[in-house]
Amino acid sequence: MSSPVSYDLGELNTALQGSLFSGKVHHIPETGSTNTLAMQAATAGVEEGTVIFADQQTAGRGRNGHNWHSDPGTAILVSVVLRPKILPAQSLWLSLMAGVAVHDAALRTCGIACDLRWPNDLLIERKKVCGILTEISADAEQLRFAVIGIGINVNQPSFPAEIGTLATSLQLETGKQWSRTELLIALLKSLEAEYRDTLDAGEESLLRKVESISSYVRGKRVHVDEGGGYDGVTDGLDPRGFLRVRTAENMRTVLSGGVRAIG
Ligand code: BTN
Repeated sequence: MSSPVSYDLGELNTALQGSLFSGKVHHIPETGSTNTLAMQAATAGVEEGTVIFADQQTAGRGRNGHNWHSDPGTAILVSVVLRPKILPAQSLWLSLMAGVAVHDAALRTCGIACDLRWPNDLLIERKKVCGILTEISADAEQLRFAVIGIGINVNQPSFPAEIGTLATSLQLETGKQWSRTELLIALLKSLEAEYRDTLDAGEESLLRKVESISSYVRGKRVHVDEGGGYDGVTDGLDPRGFLRVRTAENMRTVLSGGVRAIG
């Protein structure tokens, strides 16, 4: 196993030769947010497959305006630029695809099967080990680009008290440190495989994969933080990948996340 402490850029570049990301991977020791950098780079016209990853973020961003905390050198903090020719309304599958890719990378590299909390939080024993922030630029007709930002807690031995009950790391769950190089390679390879499959064959197979790795998609009692907030039981995904929740009154469709298990 390569070093858990620092990235091996030679190993990374060699492993990615011939892939969508070949020659387009940029390591930045410290930045505010890799997503912010990638959004700027994509706006300036960088190619599909551009990857920006950092050892430390000083202003990491999460979904719904939250911060994303990371200690230096312990997490995977990576953003990927994609330019699929899809409608803006179809962009949910990019987030679902990233969740599936992280699941596969953690399973293949560390032997750990994370649960996927729709749309794209990866959990171990209900604690969050990975968050994904997908940002897009689009006109009414077509996506110009998407930036998929992925934060995986890898080698944190502990978390600040305020998030300690909610967050975990691969090290905390397995008792071992893991090579971020190996995990990042596995992640980018899974991401490319899922991306190509979905572009070629459509979303159907991706949605089946999401169902197979997520305990949240069917039969889970949840609270949904949307439309004033409501409780219900999850009842599968609609054809676009949105989560259906059966409440006491009717069937509702969750559009933007904020789903929490009850009990
Ligand atoms: C969330 O669960 O709220 C999403 C967290 C996404 C964090 C990642 S870390 C790499 C990339 N850069 C950011 O500023 N955010 C994403």
